[in-house]
Amino acid sequence: MTSEIKISPSIIAGDLTTIGCDVQKFDSTIVDLLHMDVMDGNFVPNLTFGHGFIKNLAGHTSIPLDIHLMIERPELSIDSYIALNPWCLVFHYEASRFPARLLTSIRNAGIKAGLSINPATPVESVFDLLDFCDLVLVMSVDPGFYGQSFMEHSISRIEKLKKAIDRDFAGKIHIQVDGGINLSNIKRVVAAGADIVVAGNSAFAGGDVNSNVAALKKAAVGN
Ligand code: DX5
Ligand code: ZN
Repeated sequence: MTSEIKISPSIIAGDLTTIGCDVQKFDSTIVDLLHMDVMDGNFVPNLTFGHGFIKNLAGHTSIPLDIHLMIERPELSIDSYIALNPWCLVFHYEASRFPARLLTSIRNAGIKAGLSINPATPVESVFDLLDFCDLVLVMSVDPGFYGQSFMEHSISRIEKLKKAIDRDFAGKIHIQVDGGINLSNIKRVVAAGADIVVAGNSAFAGGDVNSNVAALKKAAVGN
C-alpha cells in the first residue's frame, strides 16, 4: 500500500442536478476518487440515488468510483453495483447478515471489497472479517447526511483498527474514514491510520473542488 493518502469527494455535497458537468472540471491528478453515497431511506433516513444514476455519471469522468452503500440487505442489489466496476464497493456491517459472502463476491469481481461500521458498532466487530476485506470504512458521523460534525472517538477507533490490521494484514487493507473531515482534523485522522479520506462539505464548499482537495492533502501532512 502506498503512503500517499487518497481524498474522495462525496458528491452529495455538490449539486446533483449539475454534477455530470461539474465532475468534468475535477483534476484527476488531484481528486483521487469520487465517493457515491447510496442511501435507501431505510438503513438511513435519507434517499439519494442508485446504480442508474452512478452509471450515467461515470460516463462523464475517468476518476475511479468509490461506492458507499447505505442500504438494507445490500445482497439484493449488489450485482448492479458490481457491474459498474468501481474502484471499491463498500457496504455496512450492520445491514447484512452474511458480510463474508458479500465481500467475497465483490472481491471475486476484481473490485476492492469494503466493510463499513457506524460509530455505535464496536470496531472489534470487523476483526474476524479482515481476511475478507480490502478496505474498512470507519464512519465518523452517523450516516445519512453530509455536513455533520466529526465524532472525536473515531480517532481511537481508527487507531485500534490500524493496530489489528498491522498485526496480520499490514499493507493489505485500506482504512477509509467518512464524516465531518475538514482542514482542522484531517491530520489527526491520517496520523491515526486512515489512508482514504472522504470529504463532503470540505471538498465542495465554495465550489472549487480541486483547490479544496489540494488544501486537504496539504493539511493532512502539514505541520
Ligand atoms: C454520510 C455520508 C458521507 C457524507 C460526508 O452519511 O456517508 O459520505 O457525505 O460529508 P461530510 O464530509 O460533509 O460529513
Ligand atoms: Zn459516505
